[in-house]
Amino acid sequence: MRFFFTIAFVIFCSASCAGAFSAVKPGILLVAFGTSVPEAQRAYARIEKAYNDAFPEAPIVWSFTSQKIRKKLARAGKPVLSIGEGLAALAKKGCKTVFVQSLHIVAGEEFAELARSVLLNVNRHPGRFEAVYLGRPLLESRDDAKKLAAAILKELGPRRKPGEAVVFMAHGQEKGRGDLILEGARDVLKHQDSLAFVATVEGSRSFDELLSELKSHIIKKVWLMPLMVVYGDHARNDLSGKEEDSWASRLKKAGYEVEMNEKGLGELEDIVQLFISHTAPVDDLTKEPKKP
Ligand code: CO
Repeated sequence: MRFFFTIAFVIFCSASCAGAFSAVKPGILLVAFGTSVPEAQRAYARIEKAYNDAFPEAPIVWSFTSQKIRKKLARAGKPVLSIGEGLAALAKKGCKTVFVQSLHIVAGEEFAELARSVLLNVNRHPGRFEAVYLGRPLLESRDDAKKLAAAILKELGPRRKPGEAVVFMAHGQEKGRGDLILEGARDVLKHQDSLAFVATVEGSRSFDELLSELKSHIIKKVWLMPLMVVYGDHARNDLSGKEEDSWASRLKKAGYEVEMNEKGLGELEDIVQLFISHTAPVDDLTKEPKKP
């Protein structure tokens, strides 16, 4: 992907800036839902470092889409920009080309809102950027799902013994398109590992469905991991929390030995590289779509 990025940059640079390097530097806007859990920031720090390594010339700015989280962080004296503010910050840094990268797992409602916000912002400021590329979420193709499956299974490695199951908690969107993408990823994962399961915390594939699936196998021990970028609120409470309605508590009650893998997907190198592979000069929101 660095290749495409370099090519785009070289074409752009030779066409319009005649060597005035800093005047045309591209910028990157990383957009996540956000988290106010300090330890969950580990994943974002990991992602930022990888982006710095992959695009050393480009300034990196963060936006959180959750207003609730942004307000909470602002009150705590750690403000994070909105999408509009993030784009303005990159313009102020002199960026003429912007790569917006969604750090969502699937193109569900959060991504749809992100795309709409960026598009409206681009229309509101014509000519501010020469190009604004929109990088799509983690799971966009069957190949992405295969890479995701390989990365999350590799994470447990030999710690997970034969016969032990692994359950991934995805977020989900009960009546939305996001769930259909998760169903595809779940199918790909099942083909790689018959004891790997996916269910959702706010989606249509419920814990009860998961439990009956587990019961159809001979399983004693279950590993738990969020299928989310950060090990944030859902992972800490709904997945591993001490309350009796957390998945960990309910699985223990059902007789399983339970072990947590306390990491968000953003802490896994292969996952970060998969996001980076989606940061490319395609889908320029400042131009009409090109029809062949
Ligand atoms: Co939620």
